[in-house]
Amino acid sequence: MSANSLFSIPLRLRRNRRTEAIRNIVQETRLSPSDLTAPFFIIEGSKKRIPIQSMPGVEWISIDCLLQEASYLHERGVQSICLFPVINPKLKSNSADEAWNSNGLLPQAIRCLKREIPTLCVIADVALDPFTIHGHDGLVDSDGKILNDETIECLIRMSLMQAEAGVDFVSPSDMMDGRVQQIRNSLDREGWINTGILSYSAKYASSLYSPFREALNVNLQFGDKKTYQMDPANSREALLEAKLDEEEGADILMVKPATFYLDVISKLRGLTQRPIAAYHVSGEYAMVMAAGQMGYLDPDKVFYEALLSIKRAGADLIFTYAIKNVLDRM
Ligand code: PBG
Repeated sequence: MSANSLFSIPLRLRRNRRTEAIRNIVQETRLSPSDLTAPFFIIEGSKKRIPIQSMPGVEWISIDCLLQEASYLHERGVQSICLFPVINPKLKSNSADEAWNSNGLLPQAIRCLKREIPTLCVIADVALDPFTIHGHDGLVDSDGKILNDETIECLIRMSLMQAEAGVDFVSPSDMMDGRVQQIRNSLDREGWINTGILSYSAKYASSLYSPFREALNVNLQFGDKKTYQMDPANSREALLEAKLDEEEGADILMVKPATFYLDVISKLRGLTQRPIAAYHVSGEYAMVMAAGQMGYLDPDKVFYEALLSIKRAGADLIFTYAIKNVLDRM
């Protein structure tokens, strides 16, 4: 017998791969625009679109252009975007007060988006790094230690301000212990019962964030983020982080980065009934773009495969800078 056989029935798996139509009907995982969330780096001013060197194809964008870009994506079926403000260095401080300024760049963007494109889901990051001089996600004491509970007070102020501006999900990316519960309680106490929490539950201390830090003009002035972000060697701990966030009231749990951590996404999928988000981060984007620029591979095809693998592992929502690279393939 020439093919594989099971109980002497010839098993020809290639029959289901024979034509495009057959391949389509047996396809197990499909990507659609509503699976994807587009991150944006917002700057002050108007009519500004400035290419970001560390992330070819991604731009710094002023609020007016953000509206155009977001409506284009929304018309194409994308349901959500997430926002990162690029903060003027003059507004940065050790106390990060700009993070909860209700007239700041971020709440302005949220209000414009909610006014002009009310059906689009808007997610905003909650962490102090764009607003601190030292670039850490939290407040720092005189010895350079990141202060957990004091930082949570700031995250609460930031979340309440974003809720008031109209955000659909606040998205704590700071990895302080206990922040989800405290943010949930404060939102509820102030009447924001419908504002969701998309928590960066298992966020690793990864080397893949450097293009993002350049895009956000965040320079870590000392140390690293290993006392709050997770060790890339650990997966049981990631499941515990996610379980705690779920118990504390997170509506969506995130794993970040994505492609190096597919095992974590997959294990979490088996444990939680909550939606899972995964962040295909700046380094995952930049590596593929760089190889594409060298002519070593086709970036659009590689992005499609990467995003498909993230969904196959179990993610419901994927944050990615590569949306425009894959939209035409869906
Ligand atoms: C900030 C934050 C980071 C990212 C998302 N939110 C950077 C960091 O933790 O240093 C990274 C996203 C990316 O690399 O695309 N807390």
